[in-house]
Amino acid sequence: MGPTSKRDNARDGAQSTAHVVVIMLIVAFGVLALPWMVLRKLDARTPTGGVAASGVPAEDLAQGGKIYYRSCANCHQARGEGKPGRYPPLTGSSWLLEDKETPIRITLLGAAGPMEVNGALYNDVMPNLGVTLSDEDVALVLTYVRSSWGNSAPAITRDEVAKVRASLGDRMEPWAGGAALSAARETRVLP
Ligand code: HEC
Repeated sequence: MGPTSKRDNARDGAQSTAHVVVIMLIVAFGVLALPWMVLRKLDARTPTGGVAASGVPAEDLAQGGKIYYRSCANCHQARGEGKPGRYPPLTGSSWLLEDKETPIRITLLGAAGPMEVNGALYNDVMPNLGVTLSDEDVALVLTYVRSSWGNSAPAITRDEVAKVRASLGDRMEPWAGGAALSAARETRVLP
């Protein structure tokens, strides 16, 4: 082995180090760029017009969101997560998502009494928002919360709210918690 081949070896060594560095850069780019591209895709799904992923017109979602932040977010919080021990979460709640009538009843008359939500017990007072919200408002806000933050339940229409409101007659008294709401489920108003 002469000095020349030593130099050659050194150059080969440098070259393969360069290769390794290039390969590592490509891998690092992939590792960093992939999640970035996925996040960009998710971001792009946020409605800016037309129809949202939930099938609800983006305009309705935007209006429902406005009503939510005005009339509900004080208690149920910005992303429907609620406040432990005080205000129940709207995410994943069977009272909100299982049928359409129950959340309409709650929104129209409010609730005051023990109620279990996602396995935790709540017992506080929700006001009767049916006094200030129109049938259209209730439909929009419930459609919004039923298709936000991971929730995905069918939209609620103004007519459905009107039917449930009519079934309540001139009742003003709030639902006495979960037991009263479960009992009301027995009398179906909507098909
Ligand atoms: C002043 C606070 C307050 C406001 C405002 C309020 N809620 Fe509530 N909400 C509560 C409380 C407290 C309960 C639990 C009532 C109980 O313990 O009987 C509740 C229960 C519920 C439930 C059933 C339980 C659950 O977490 O799914 C739904 C659905 C609901 N609220 C929707 C709404 C919507 C929609 C609005 C706005 C239109 C709203 N609430 C506004 C305090 C509030």
